[in-house]
Amino acid sequence: MKALVTGVAGFIGSHLAEGLLKLGWGVKGIDSFTDYYSRKIKEDNLRNLKGDKGFSFQEGDLLELNLKKDLEEIDYLFHLAAQPGVRKSWGKNFEYYIRNNITVTQRLLEKAKGLPLKKVVLASSSSVYGESPLPMKEDNVLRPISPYGVTKLASEKLGYLYYRSYKAPVIILRYFTVYGSRQRPDMALHRFIKAILNNEEITIYGDGNQTRDFTYVSDTVEATIKAAQCEAGGEIINIGGGAQVTVNETLKILEEITKKKAKVRYIEKQKGDMLHTFADISKAKRLLDYQPKVKLREGLKKEVAWLATTKTQNST
Ligand code: NAD
Ligand code: UGA
Repeated sequence: MKALVTGVAGFIGSHLAEGLLKLGWGVKGIDSFTDYYSRKIKEDNLRNLKGDKGFSFQEGDLLELNLKKDLEEIDYLFHLAAQPGVRKSWGKNFEYYIRNNITVTQRLLEKAKGLPLKKVVLASSSSVYGESPLPMKEDNVLRPISPYGVTKLASEKLGYLYYRSYKAPVIILRYFTVYGSRQRPDMALHRFIKAILNNEEITIYGDGNQTRDFTYVSDTVEATIKAAQCEAGGEIINIGGGAQVTVNETLKILEEITKKKAKVRYIEKQKGDMLHTFADISKAKRLLDYQPKVKLREGLKKEVAWLATTKTQNST
């Protein structure tokens, strides 16, 4: 099997490519090293991959590369490249979100249409739900509350259009706050762990009683590969970690793991942040036989161990 992974130098894309290679697939990865966070971190993410004979990499922008040959050569397309980050998506930054989340997805789908691909997996996000009843079900009314969420919803809708009109074998996964080694440096758990290890202050947005359904990255990868291999087409599927935890609770667990006291400062809630997320994963169980395996404490131990050893922890 041969796959193209976009956003391969990113957090989830690099883990996905490693997971596919372990299964014996050939993987081509594309990434443009956007400057949302440091290039050095993204190059480190690629380090394991570059030593694998089954892997090839192209640096380039998905809006500029020709892509014809890349798409003709593969059986599976995993589209993970995006401009992530909920809180930075306001104002002038929105143009990057439109470009990298909407226009890029449309171009990729346009180029892929009509090709004999087995599956096109699109990475979407819990942020499409906004203020939605819990647990979040795929057919809930969607009211994103961040510009980022709006662009991810638009990219989902584009995926569905190409499924409906061109029979593109699209499947859409709504990931819920993913964590683990190589987690993006702007994300809460990465910031919290780094601050605790370096005796720095942690900033909590709001009172810390907001909740997240944190999903460990190996569970996310397993679900993504299962989605590529499943029969279903045109479906949207939540991929959550199976538990709802407050931000304050994550800090308590991190203090226990590191045996250090966190220095915490509470500031105002940030615009665009959802108060609570919690995925109904019954559809993922039914269609993908998905069952998250890594519990929060165990996953946090792994992320702490990674950040304690990584050389890049100070370059974020
Ligand atoms: P990431 O920023 O680590 O990875 C995304 C990669 O895409 C980056 O390396 C970036 O350089 C690349 N990229 C962006 N625009 C590009 C372009 N035009 N051409 C080529 N490469 C480009 O982000 P991540 O956290 O790994 O997220 C991966 C996907 O999962 C994204 O689609 C994101 O929206 C989605 N998602 C992530 C989470 C999470 O918790 N991390 C949750 C929900 C959804
Ligand atoms: C994350 C990713 O960043 C998005 O790309 C993704 O689409 C989204 O998950 C998703 O699941 O769809 P978010 O849940 O905001 O978004 O992830 P974190 O940055 O890890 O934040 C988690 C919580 O911690 C939020 O409530 C946030 O307000 C809080 N937080 C974050 C802090 O209190 N302090 C910080 O320094 C960072």
